[in-house]
Amino acid sequence: MFPALLVFFLLAAESIGTLAEDSTGLNFIVAFPENIANYYPGDPQNKVRITAMNDNTQVTLQWFNNAPGGPDTLNKGQTREYPVDVKMELRKTGFSNKTLKITSTKNITVQAINCKKTSTQTALVMPTDQLGTKYFIPPIPNIQGTTVPSDIVTTDVTERAPFKLVIVNTDKVNHVTVGNNQTIALHPYELSQVWVRDNASRTVQADNAVAVLFGHTCAMKDNCTCGQLYATLPPANNEMLKFYIPPILAQNASDKAFVLLSERGSITRVLAFNKDLQLVEAAGTAIFYRPGLLLTLIPETDFGSCYVVNTVPDMQTFALIVVNKSLTDGVHNGTLPLQNPRWQELKGTEYVSTLVAVGNQSVIWHASSKMAVYFLGKKDNAWFGNPAPVISKTPDFRGCVLAPEVVKIADVAVGWRESLKYCNDKGLNLISFPKAQLQSHIYGKILQLNNHTVQEVWIGMRRSSRTGEWYWLNQEPVSATNWDEGEPGTIFDGMCVLMSLETGKDFVWSGKDCCMAAYSICYKEPVLFWG
Ligand SMILES: *[C@@H]1O[C@H](CO)[C@@H](O)[C@H](O)[C@H]1NC(C)=O
Ligand SMILES: *[C@@H]1O[C@H](CO)[C@@H](O)[C@H](O)[C@H]1NC(C)=O
Ligand SMILES: *[C@@H]1O[C@H](CO)[C@@H](O)[C@H](O)[C@H]1NC(C)=O
Ligand SMILES: *[C@@H]1O[C@H](CO)[C@@H](O)[C@H](O)[C@H]1NC(C)=O
Ligand SMILES: *[C@@H]1O[C@H](CO)[C@@H](O)[C@H](O)[C@H]1NC(C)=O
Ligand SMILES: *[C@@H]1O[C@H](CO)[C@@H](O)[C@H](O)[C@H]1NC(C)=O
Ligand SMILES: *[C@@H]1O[C@H](CO)[C@@H](O)[C@H](O)[C@H]1NC(C)=O
Ligand SMILES: *[C@@H]1O[C@H](CO)[C@@H](O)[C@H](O)[C@H]1NC(C)=O
Ligand SMILES: *[C@@H]1O[C@H](CO)[C@@H](O)[C@H](O)[C@H]1NC(C)=O
Ligand SMILES: *[C@@H]1O[C@H](CO)[C@@H](O)[C@H](O)[C@H]1NC(C)=O
Repeated sequence: MFPALLVFFLLAAESIGTLAEDSTGLNFIVAFPENIANYYPGDPQNKVRITAMNDNTQVTLQWFNNAPGGPDTLNKGQTREYPVDVKMELRKTGFSNKTLKITSTKNITVQAINCKKTSTQTALVMPTDQLGTKYFIPPIPNIQGTTVPSDIVTTDVTERAPFKLVIVNTDKVNHVTVGNNQTIALHPYELSQVWVRDNASRTVQADNAVAVLFGHTCAMKDNCTCGQLYATLPPANNEMLKFYIPPILAQNASDKAFVLLSERGSITRVLAFNKDLQLVEAAGTAIFYRPGLLLTLIPETDFGSCYVVNTVPDMQTFALIVVNKSLTDGVHNGTLPLQNPRWQELKGTEYVSTLVAVGNQSVIWHASSKMAVYFLGKKDNAWFGNPAPVISKTPDFRGCVLAPEVVKIADVAVGWRESLKYCNDKGLNLISFPKAQLQSHIYGKILQLNNHTVQEVWIGMRRSSRTGEWYWLNQEPVSATNWDEGEPGTIFDGMCVLMSLETGKDFVWSGKDCCMAAYSICYKEPVLFWG
């Protein structure tokens, strides 16, 4: 184990899972970039899709200049699509208040779907509390007829303008610097569209949090149509990150597939897809590009353990999963292991990936590890996609975790009855773990937690004072047990169960006098999400 992590566990002596964020939240702000789609005007069929994590979730959508609509109620696992007013589609460059504010009483995930004629793009909308103040602008892919300098005209002809950034403000007055010298002031919930003109400086720096979209109104040229292309940028990160590139993304396009890298806001690189090495390490932002698809890559540090993937009606939709090749068995869809995945190796890495078709809704989770999951769609021959919404970053063998389990070693040594109260006062229970699988899971957790000064702990099992029978506090039957040799003794040897944490003793149990002073293990089960 990494030394710094060990120190953390020693000091904390408590496990509440990782603190890293997921894609769920209560407040969102969404913008809908312009889509030329055809060279004659047409209305978009834009949508937002919302999934609730809890029952009785009240969701409110507020269009820029309207009063908020009455709240809509969603239940746990429910997904609903809301059509977006055609007037919300952005035009040209400059300022606008055409933003959609989504608020909710409980955690939800939000995906934006932009659709006009045959052109479709989707985006994962991050909750506003996870947006950043700094972003790295990726280099621009070379697209014939769109970005080759001689094609670019900065007039009113938007389909021949450069790539754009859409900078969407959150709830405070904001000042945003784009590149070296362009500063813009934004009202709350206002946005500005800015051309990406030069390669000099590749950062967006704001006083308060903003969302940044990167794309073009007309980057997919095909038979006199031209589709929108865009991706949501992740907040800047100066740390060295690992990005894994599933080879299926480059299939049938191996000479037209690239990774667009922006590092530390100053260096940009356009890497051709490498058939021998499907790992890119960089301190910055990485976006996969193939004609029609800009896909923000998920760095290894942001891998999650549970994702939700939904279908888009009338389109083929897929989940693209990237996982450690020795841990593919842990990938589940709902209650079942993933059915018949065909794993493909990522060259030069320990990872594999698979592309699986998705029915109405898939809750894709891993029992013991983290992984990356992308939502991908295909319409005609064009791909679109985005990182799938992360529900959790804490793997658990029981399923997709909404609130991780809590395992705590008490910091006082008291009798069994007092231990019961000690745990209850902390909103926890003296641990009951009747099943063998949960026992070995908890032993693993305790190994991470114990500071080796605690040698024995009370657990939530004892004899009934009426019958002398052993029982668990949570009422489940006593089946798998881990008694020490010669244990349990008689009623006179003890009525309460003490577990050994001594090295080499395999967590064995013994019956002891309930009044003896000992530490204890307090526990709270995880809250699981089922779609
Ligand atoms: C957006 O709204 C604010 C506040 O109502 C207003 O001051 C500003 O001019 C608006 N911006 C645009 C581009 O209309
Ligand atoms: C919502 O999700 C955040 C993490 O994104 C979590 O900290 C919080 O407890 C969740 N809130 C509810 C009400 O579940
Ligand atoms: C910003 O810098 C560019 C060159 O990097 C220059 O052409 C332009 O005039 C500058 N704009 C302002 C407002 O200073
Ligand atoms: C911008 O940078 C990219 C990648 O580094 C390069 O391919 C492109 O030619 C540059 N464009 C200009 C106008 O310098
Ligand atoms: C181009 O579009 C036109 C009109 O939609 C259609 O008739 C034609 O078959 C298309 N050509 C190709 C090569 O797809
Ligand atoms: C590659 O082409 C084959 C045959 O046309 C098609 O079935 C497959 O979906 C394509 N793969 C990708 C990733 O586009
Ligand atoms: C993949 O999993 C194996 C087995 O758990 C582990 O030893 C290895 O370090 C993992 N590889 C990566 C890159 O995480
Ligand atoms: C997951 O299960 C759901 C419900 O059974 C099904 O509709 C969906 O296609 C499955 N997804 C995957 C990726 O296997
Ligand atoms: C999938 O969604 C469609 C339309 O929303 C619905 O009619 C159908 O019953 C759903 N199928 C399942 C298996 O939930
Ligand atoms: C070890 O844990 C016990 C009980 O939680 C606590 O009293 C003690 O201070 C801890 N020791 C160290 C070195 O953290």
